[in-house]
Amino acid sequence: MERQPLKGRVAVVTGAGRGIGAAIARAFGAAGATVCCSARSAAEVEATAAVIRAAGGAAFAATADVAEADDIARLYASVVAEAGGLDLLVVNAGVSLDQKPVAESDPAAFARTIAVNLTGAYHCARLAIPHMRARGGGRMIMLGSGMGHSSLHGHAAYSCSKAGLWMLVRILADELRADGIAVNELVPGPVDTSMTQVPQRDGSVVRNPVEWLKSPEDVVPLAMFLAAHAPPGPTGQSFSLMRRTF
Ligand SMILES: NC(=O)c1ccc[n+]([C@@H]2O[C@H](COP(=O)([O-])OP(=O)(O)OC[C@H]3O[C@@H](n4cnc5c(N)ncnc54)[C@H](OP(=O)(O)O)[C@@H]3O)[C@@H](O)[C@H]2O)c1
Repeated sequence: MERQPLKGRVAVVTGAGRGIGAAIARAFGAAGATVCCSARSAAEVEATAAVIRAAGGAAFAATADVAEADDIARLYASVVAEAGGLDLLVVNAGVSLDQKPVAESDPAAFARTIAVNLTGAYHCARLAIPHMRARGGGRMIMLGSGMGHSSLHGHAAYSCSKAGLWMLVRILADELRADGIAVNELVPGPVDTSMTQVPQRDGSVVRNPVEWLKSPEDVVPLAMFLAAHAPPGPTGQSFSLMRRTF
């Protein structure tokens, strides 16, 4: 692969302040893309953008809540003003709230999880379409989960949000194939981030012994493949880094 396979491309990475999103943003910057690093915490996205710039790349930070369509419209307007267009979208921002059985769960936490993980993905994709059409094509990569495919006690909100995302990927892929816009799901499996560092009562952290516990950087090669492959490439597919089948 060429040294800077994303040279000349403009990327938005949501949830780029830490974890998987920050690793993908840094890698896209090193691969030559101009990267807009977005999340709600200004200091975290500024830090990711600063690391990219310090390594000689092009990046800027912009705060946005993916659950708010107006935030995303403003975000893309700033990306077009700053970088001239939009080619790559990584729908990575996500939350896992209120891990309780349905009977004891909080309806507000359920609604918020869907609003961020599923409706947020819808806002990010819908509002990116005209910008990608204006460039003659594009790539969307959505961070899915194995939990969207198999039930896990106490995770209704998160699992339902990711099951919905699975379908959103397929519908978008069908609707956008003729525009040269590819939409794929990246299922990372367990990654050591703030999302998975949930201490138990005894202070330990639950780990699934069957699964490969990754660092955020372990997710980068697959994200890079989905962003950089030569056209036409795959669309409407799920690519998993898990060891368990689902
Ligand atoms: N870690 C895993 O094991 C794992 C496994 C499967 C799938 N995934 C998926 O991979 C993605 C990234 O996970 P991660 O583990 O890297 O999570 P993380 O370390 O908790 O980071 C999540 C990022 O999303 C941002 N975010 C959260 N809510 C947001 C909102 N409403 N609007 C905009 N940004 C928001 C956070 O920043 P702010 O809080 O500042 O907004 C942060 O930058 C998620 O979609 C997750 O579901 C993770």
